[in-house]
Amino acid sequence: MNFDKRILCIGAGYVGGPTMAVIASKCPRYSVTVVDVDQGRVDAWNSGKPPIYEPGLDEVVRQGLGRNLFFTTDIARGIRENDIIFVSVNTPTKTFGAGAGLAADLQYWELAARQILEHADSSKIVIEKSTFPVKTAQAMERILMSRNDGIHFDVLSNPEFLAEGTAIRDLVNPDRVLIGSRSTERGLKARDELVAIYANWVSRERIITSNIWSSELSKLASNFFLAQRISTINAISAVCEKTGADVSEVAKIVGMDSRIGSRFLNASVGFGGSCFKKDILNLVYLCRVEGLEEVADYVEKVVLINEYQKERFVLNMLTAMFNTLAGKKICLFGFAFKADTGDTRESPAIQIARKLLDEHAEVVITDPQALVSAREDLADVEWGVSYVEDPYEAVRGCHAIAVMTEWNLYRELDYSRIHDLMVKPAFIFDGRNILDHQALYEIGFNVYPIGKRPMSHF
Ligand code: NAD
Ligand code: UGA
Repeated sequence: MNFDKRILCIGAGYVGGPTMAVIASKCPRYSVTVVDVDQGRVDAWNSGKPPIYEPGLDEVVRQGLGRNLFFTTDIARGIRENDIIFVSVNTPTKTFGAGAGLAADLQYWELAARQILEHADSSKIVIEKSTFPVKTAQAMERILMSRNDGIHFDVLSNPEFLAEGTAIRDLVNPDRVLIGSRSTERGLKARDELVAIYANWVSRERIITSNIWSSELSKLASNFFLAQRISTINAISAVCEKTGADVSEVAKIVGMDSRIGSRFLNASVGFGGSCFKKDILNLVYLCRVEGLEEVADYVEKVVLINEYQKERFVLNMLTAMFNTLAGKKICLFGFAFKADTGDTRESPAIQIARKLLDEHAEVVITDPQALVSAREDLADVEWGVSYVEDPYEAVRGCHAIAVMTEWNLYRELDYSRIHDLMVKPAFIFDGRNILDHQALYEIGFNVYPIGKRPMSHF
């Protein structure tokens, strides 16, 4: 079949897979190929049963497979045969050398850039889809410009704003699509080519264009703003617990100010996910390198409060359960970093589980999608942790439940039955404030929400 455009994406992960599946479904006249070094991931995508859990994803992928959506490990061929190349590789925090623990590890994107350089036999538009530090596009240009044989590469920044669990909805109906380009004639032409792709389904007013550096920084700034709201309400939750105020009431009242808005004000055990922490630390690194120490300290506080919130959660458990957790069985309801995903990267549950094990508690983990990842995250733990799919089985013989993930499933369980299965006095620590605390208290539980007065029978 003759396609109107030929698109490649390097990286078939949480962003590359869903984003390309949606482009393929919205643009049936484009060919969309996704390449990855991970054969297992590629096989899973090709089987129609994607390697990640995301509501609505399976259907979009199945629509495209064999029509205009292709997954492969043949990177050289992918680069040769496509004109528009998205780079959606992982950009984790660097764990070694200068900037370790703060800066982004850029080895994956540099390898991708070098592969493009090696295999391209015609000019390409190269699009940064991953979240990169400011000025990465410039570095990518410098690598790609090193060929000097008439083949030209135009680098654009097109950061992704989707959230896991709502990825398909976010991609189909985005708040905005951001495209950063150079303002040269070639740069603007490349930008218009990318605008035309999104214009197949996104209204023109929602497609924002900017210079490359604004685009790169806006992505980091957006994640900083979002995470900052969570750390702010979590800081307020600590004040609520000391003063008798109720964090849900405070959040509702504050959020009714239309200048503030009501979303992203749910107090929790802490934010997780692969990006908030790494992107904020990346911004901290940028500020420190530029000598903006005060700004760096301000930004970093968002991560520090998040760590504090997790520590506080376990300390509250310890204090409530008579200052010892040794030998007690504690069931974690949920291990994913948020509902509707199987992703556990940076999930607060990982740290909570480890802190409970440090207290010599026994930890039972249940989650409808994340048990495989949970086992990998705690693979080094030799004793004291078990994984049980059925929540009723998981709570059997437990002294406490700690809600880690806001899965709807946990709102709908039969808590009288659960109470019967547990050791008394039975405790619930609701790290997401999703349960009916009064009803639980009446059943006989001692209930410890976040940022609210505990409801205890003694
Ligand atoms: P991921 O780890 O799920 O996927 C990255 C994939 O790239 C992996 O499958 C890896 O094997 C592959 N890869 C790495 N180098 C490669 C190479 N040279 N050739 C071929 N394949 C290669 O990561 P992700 O969650 O999809 O995130 C990707 C980027 O998008 C990150 O920069 C992240 O910050 C950003 N982002 C993520 C989300 C999210 O919700 N996960 C949202 C917005 C932005
Ligand atoms: C976040 C952003 O929302 C996306 O816009 C961005 O594209 C993405 O990061 C990224 O760059 O990777 P994501 O991490 O998938 O998306 O999920 P969020 O819904 O933002 O939740 C992040 C964490 O904050 C979760 O652990 C969630 O439970 C927690 N959270 C969220 C709260 O504790 N309280 C809230 O009110 C909202």
